Amino acid sequence: MRRITLHTKNTTYQIGIHRLGFLLHLYYGSRTECDMSYLLQAYDRGFSGNPHDAAGDRTLSLDVLPQEFPCYGTGDFRSAAFNVRSLEGVHGVDLRYQKHRVRRGKYALPGLPVVYESEDALKREQRFLTGKMERPVQGTEPHSEEEQEICSGTQGAYTLEVTLADQNVGIKVILLYGVLPDLDVITRSAVVRNVGEKELFLCKVFSCTLDFLRGDYDLLHFHGRHAMERNAERIPVMHGKQSFGSRRGTSSHQHNPFAILAERETTEDYGGCYGMAFLYSGNFSFEAEQDQYHQVRMQLGMSDEMMDYPLSADECLCVPEVAMAYTADGLAALSHIFHKVIREHVCRGRYKTARRPVLINSWEAAYFHFTGEKILKMAEQAAKLGVEMLVLDDGWFGKRDDDNSGLGDWYVNEKKLGMPLARLADKINDMGMQFGLWIEPEMVNEDSDLYRQHPDWAFTIPGRQPCRCRNQLVLDFSRKEVVDHVFEQIAGVLDKVSVSYIKMDMNRSLSDICTLTTESYQNYAKTMHCYVLGVYDFLERMTARYPHILFEGCSGGGGRFDAGMLYYTPQIWCSDDTDAIERIRIQHGTSFVYPISAVGSHVSASPNHQTGRQTKLFTRSVVAMAGSFGYELDLNLVSEEEKDEVKEQIQDYKKYWNLIHNGRYYRLHDPERDREAAAWEFVSGDGTEMLLNVVRLDAHGNAPINFIRCKGLRPKARYRCIEEKRVVREYHSGAPRRDRKQLEGRICDGASLMCAGVPIPMELGEYEAMQVYFRLLDTET
Ligand code: GLA
Repeated sequence: MRRITLHTKNTTYQIGIHRLGFLLHLYYGSRTECDMSYLLQAYDRGFSGNPHDAAGDRTLSLDVLPQEFPCYGTGDFRSAAFNVRSLEGVHGVDLRYQKHRVRRGKYALPGLPVVYESEDALKREQRFLTGKMERPVQGTEPHSEEEQEICSGTQGAYTLEVTLADQNVGIKVILLYGVLPDLDVITRSAVVRNVGEKELFLCKVFSCTLDFLRGDYDLLHFHGRHAMERNAERIPVMHGKQSFGSRRGTSSHQHNPFAILAERETTEDYGGCYGMAFLYSGNFSFEAEQDQYHQVRMQLGMSDEMMDYPLSADECLCVPEVAMAYTADGLAALSHIFHKVIREHVCRGRYKTARRPVLINSWEAAYFHFTGEKILKMAEQAAKLGVEMLVLDDGWFGKRDDDNSGLGDWYVNEKKLGMPLARLADKINDMGMQFGLWIEPEMVNEDSDLYRQHPDWAFTIPGRQPCRCRNQLVLDFSRKEVVDHVFEQIAGVLDKVSVSYIKMDMNRSLSDICTLTTESYQNYAKTMHCYVLGVYDFLERMTARYPHILFEGCSGGGGRFDAGMLYYTPQIWCSDDTDAIERIRIQHGTSFVYPISAVGSHVSASPNHQTGRQTKLFTRSVVAMAGSFGYELDLNLVSEEEKDEVKEQIQDYKKYWNLIHNGRYYRLHDPERDREAAAWEFVSGDGTEMLLNVVRLDAHGNAPINFIRCKGLRPKARYRCIEEKRVVREYHSGAPRRDRKQLEGRICDGASLMCAGVPIPMELGEYEAMQVYFRLLDTET
């Protein structure tokens, strides 16, 4: 069988081209040089149909064979990746191999986020796409029956394009595989073209399928709700199909477009696991299906629910990208792969790896109730303590004193501010601070000038009252004129005010999908997809026009926390729940795929506004430091002692940020199992520095001592504890004291820290934290 083998540094992906043109999946796993087609076993299986051109070979059935892009209608009765309906209503498609080629460089996609090798290479690929530059002729097309192609990527990233076609249906698909050898990542996408004469309808187009010949896997997925996003859940893959996704128009708080398939015995530190991350912010579906022979199919793509995507003759659809990775070294290693790829090869712009300014956000400090003077007072106090940026959240525009009106009217409410916004920003700049602003461009209130002028710009179905949410409607961003208008309005503000940061929010799910233009074709799936493309277009233009601005994504916290958004905004507000103890769980789930630098995380007031829980300022800062750090409270309202503590926290964050953002992150507890303490750790890439963070959860009287075992250190190297910080009670009296140190100054080797661990002192009370910093004392002996 002809084979195409893709190698990364530590993995191998192998595709088989069957003599009848079926594209088979032979292998994905640890690196091997072997011909993996020996794994395929051919037997006559009852009720598993045979292709007509198998010429009576009853052992050939696509119902059993592992495939790259399984189609409905070929005799494979498992869940397909691709299905087409004809104008007459006939379902099914039989794609066969036509040709393939391998070329240097990682492909780009028009209007869609992608993993890239370097930002320069990305720009080059984008110029090829727009036809502004001709692609140098290169690549190979091996055709002989026995020939096989091995791609090892010694010269960096490369792309495999496999062309499949069904002449009868009139459809051509180019499967795209982007290989980033050094990162151990392979991406998948496809371009689907109607090459016939009649209109066709795509009923399902997934981006990525992985077929496994074995069945003993667990599925890890990340579910949640507003203010409690990305809870990690691990469940065995069962017979039948397990599926999750979003039909909310955004990736959603409820399910994240990322999943892991892990071998049953896989832990954080050991075992095989596969991850798939979708670079897309709209409706999606993930499926894990175990079939009758215990084989497993894992796939991810745009949601096929209500999908009937029209393609007229010669029209094509570019399928959003999935990034996948495999490691034999457990879940932490898988997270490290995704952290690096998202941080350095998805996020873009000047803040990609730079330190983000420590900011203070007005939302939980003032909500809608502020004037310019009040904001200046907040800024003044914050500046004194070392905060570097003030962000004015919701309420500065239109008629916006609560959340019932004003969205859509992107002009400054000077009456409320009592001054022009530019003056406010300048005054804040004069304090030595940068200024940031909140926007929610995709939304409109019925009580707004924009809605009164253009009621047809909001999604509504004629003759039906639309569903409101937070008393707002969604603007139809699938229409260019709508995006253009909002863009121009917001740019009108940004051009006049010295703004260094934008929080781009989105506060409801999409409903009442109907495009109210005369020429438009009413199609749910197309409108939903074009909406996402409209949002991406808005962001692409914003980030290009204002390259100095730091963009933070947001959707009621983490309702659109996905790798697609991170291509435009290098950080996302992780959750509207700012309670430190709740955040530990949310940030734990988020860390499986998203880098720490992407996690917007703030110290807010105590008692917490969402839960009423009281926690120490130190605990709140330790938790918020596992992200892009900031404050979300009025610092005029904290005690003098706490002000000093804030100063110290900002210094600490500046000291540790590189280790936190660019180091390796280790989860040291499991929120489902460990009720007594939460712990996580940052280790520098070269293993010379380590920052350990611990928060006591349930406290008990006369409790046994817990030990936290560190990870990722050099076993034989000696480390000195440079700094140990905690706020603890005197064990019996309850009086707070900060001077009891048991580790500071001590020297331990990596083996002892990893094998025996660090004891959690008994006097660390409920919700109290400890932070310990170790540095290499000498080189490995
Ligand atoms: C969303 C965000 C909050 C805040 C409010 C403002 O809920 O997640 O942080 O910006 O909107 O309305």
